[in-house]
Amino acid sequence: MANSPFAIAAELEPAMWRLYRDFFDQAEKKRRWSLRDDIPWDQCNPQLDPAIGDVVESFCGVELYLPDYTSKILPVVRPSKGRTWFYANWGYEESKHSLALGDWLLKSGMRSDEQMADLEEKIFQWEWNLPHDSHLGMLVYAMVQEVATWLNYRNLRLKAEERGGDPALEKLLTLIAVDERAHHSFFRECVELYL
Ligand SMILES: [Fe+2]
Ligand SMILES: [Fe+2]
Repeated sequence: MANSPFAIAAELEPAMWRLYRDFFDQAEKKRRWSLRDDIPWDQCNPQLDPAIGDVVESFCGVELYLPDYTSKILPVVRPSKGRTWFYANWGYEESKHSLALGDWLLKSGMRSDEQMADLEEKIFQWEWNLPHDSHLGMLVYAMVQEVATWLNYRNLRLKAEERGGDPALEKLLTLIAVDERAHHSFFRECVELYL
C-alpha cells in the first residue's frame, strides 16, 4: 500500500499535525463546555412536543455507536499522528454528545431509566462497520457526515423552538452543533491537503 494513492501520505504529515494542533488549541480556548454547569437543566419544558423527544432519542442512538466509531477507525489511521490524536479528542467530544442527549431524555421526563437501558441494550447488539476500506474514503465520508450531523442538530434546535421551546435542549443542541462544525472543518482541511 505504501505507493498506492490510497496510502497515508507521509509527506503530508507535518501539515496534518499542524491542523490538529490548531484544532486542539481552538477547542481548549473556545469550545470546552461542561455537561453539569453549562446547560440550564432546570429549564426542561414538560409541554414540549414528544416528537422532538423521539428525534433526540434517535440522535442519541447514533452517538451510542462510539465504541465502533473509535475502535474501527484507529487501526486505519494509525500511521498518522495528526489523525490518531484527532480521533482521541474527537472520541471525548462525541462521548459528551451521547451523555448530553441521554441526560436530557431523562431529566425532561421524555424517557425513563428503564427505557434508556432498553435502548442501550438494543443498540449494543448491533455493530457499526466502516463504510469504506481506505483511509481516504473514510476521510471524505467523515467530512460529509460531520456537516450532516451539524445540520441535524441545528435543524432540531429550530424545530424545538417552534414546538414549545426547551431552553435546556436548545442550549445543548447549540453546544453540540458547534462541536460538529469544528469536526467538519478539521476533516475538510485534511481533504484539502490531499487535493
Ligand atoms: Fe456528535
Ligand atoms: Fe462530530
